[in-house]
Amino acid sequence: MSLEPFPVDTRQRPLASLRVSITDRCNLRCGYCMPEESYEWLPAKDILSFEEILRLTGLFADTGARRLRLTGGEPLLRKDATKLVAMICAANRFDEVAMTTNALGLATSAEALKAAGLTRLTVSLDSLHQDRVKQISGRDSLARVLAGLDAAADAGFTGTKLDTVAMAGFNDDELSDFLHFGAQRAIEVRFIEYMDVPGASKWTSGKVISRKEMLARIEAEVGVKPEPFGHQGSAPAARFRLPTGATWKSQDLSGQVFGIIASTTEPFCGSCDRSRITADGMWFRCLYAELGTNLLQELRSGVSDDQLRAKIRGTWQARTDNGAEQRLERKIRKAYEPKVPGVHLEMHTRGG
Ligand code: GTP
Ligand code: 5AD
Ligand code: SF4
Repeated sequence: MSLEPFPVDTRQRPLASLRVSITDRCNLRCGYCMPEESYEWLPAKDILSFEEILRLTGLFADTGARRLRLTGGEPLLRKDATKLVAMICAANRFDEVAMTTNALGLATSAEALKAAGLTRLTVSLDSLHQDRVKQISGRDSLARVLAGLDAAADAGFTGTKLDTVAMAGFNDDELSDFLHFGAQRAIEVRFIEYMDVPGASKWTSGKVISRKEMLARIEAEVGVKPEPFGHQGSAPAARFRLPTGATWKSQDLSGQVFGIIASTTEPFCGSCDRSRITADGMWFRCLYAELGTNLLQELRSGVSDDQLRAKIRGTWQARTDNGAEQRLERKIRKAYEPKVPGVHLEMHTRGG
């Protein structure tokens, strides 16, 4: 194995965080991600096997990746996902192995995931109203998500985060309700600005609530100004804390910490240390990148570990990506349409 220092890209960004999508399938149909009812799924033969994922993640760890996040689609739809988690955690190559999930499968798998060694969970939920959840996700799923969160807590998961895409005219009246929900369950809520990613075909700029607007709204509702909390570093979320005196619907919210991911209005490309591998083994260095590296092909053509490490290193060193910054520079924005025909850029293939 090479003893060279870990690579940095053209903007001195390290390759520290790796996201691996383990299936392109999802059992929800969120309007901002998979608005169509039916999709053509990847054939099983084109999907990375557990052994291939284990080998690749090991090679990325050798090249500097410290954090691993399993995503989808919905990762728990991958058969024996828990077994994969156990294999990765047993190899002990990462500081943390987390998962982003819609929580529908958590009631039945939280305990096994914890036992397998998964460090942390991030759960997606966009409303606390049953009818709105059904409207945005196409399924009547709130009760199952709540049961999933209960199961995660019962299984001993701590540090669970809740990701909420904030959309004007949909859930902008629920920000403080979410903070209250987070306080009750010891969960850190993060509000995500609605992004014009591929697949978000219903995106319009009018539906975006900016970080600034979210903070103003929360301040007006809880009666005190949220204060910045900690350093953002390479994390997508800027964190805030509600000072003493914060109340909402007669509940004390003092000290509650939350995050805002301002990918649309204040991109964080300058510190982006993440890259993603799709379920079919394409390695993309940016959420918006059209060109990826087909690692599945490399693996299956019998390339050695040394060659693969050199490929990962060299490719990362040449990285210039700043997709979200480039989007911000455009005057007219709509859901991103790739110029390369047939390329899959939707969030459900890219892993959120
Ligand atoms: P934690 O370790 O839990 O803090 O994970 P994280 O902060 O990396 O968050 P997570 O990976 O769950 O990402 C949260 C959301 O941020 C995603 O669902 C996306 O909406 C957005 N996001 C994640 N990665 C990127 C990225 O590389 N670029 C942009 N522009 N947005 C991203
Ligand atoms: N805008 C913002 N966030 C999105 N996600 C998916 N599509 C979008 C979008 N268009 C995020 C959601 C979901 C995670 C997997 O990806 O937060 O929780
Ligand atoms: Fe990273 Fe690309 Fe997202 Fe910018 S847009 S933060 S470079 S993935």
